Amino acid sequence: RKPIIPYEEIGPDKLSQLVDAFYERVAAHPKLKPIFPDDLTETARKQKQFLTQYLGGPNIYSQEHGHPMLRARHMPFPITPARAQAWLECMHEAMDEVELEGKIRDDFYHRLVLTAHHMTNRPDQEE
Ligand code: HEM
Repeated sequence: RKPIIPYEEIGPDKLSQLVDAFYERVAAHPKLKPIFPDDLTETARKQKQFLTQYLGGPNIYSQEHGHPMLRARHMPFPITPARAQAWLECMHEAMDEVELEGKIRDDFYHRLVLTAHHMTNRPDQEE
């Protein structure tokens, strides 16, 4: 059986639309907006690169930025459980908007839940 590569199943166009829909929500979210840059162009570009390799596509994030070390890269930002939840809600809504559905969506979202929890680096009261 041919292994299924999520990146190939979703495709670069839908992945790009997903990331754009996601950062539109981040930019408008009261819990997330304050910790992100005002201009999210570069953030979105890096996230498209990262998710491409996260989903089994070419390693274009690492080629430009080196090892992701995502938890370390997030340490400067106060990521509370409430912010991780907000991040996941933005992603869930973005998946709805671009109509990413079925097992591919469920598997991808489940991985993001685990990764988001892994990024949490401050307790809620420090928000
Ligand atoms: C960068 C917040 C979860 C992937 C960032 C930045 C912030 C942030 C503030 C810096 C943006 C910038 O300076 O351009 C959060 C919060 C999360 C979260 C609040 C909640 C849990 C995640 C998850 C992933 C992820 C789950 C991956 C699946 C990235 C990537 C970058 C980034 C790839 C760019 C890193 C770089 O500078 O090269 N995030 N993040 N983040 N985040 Fe997150």
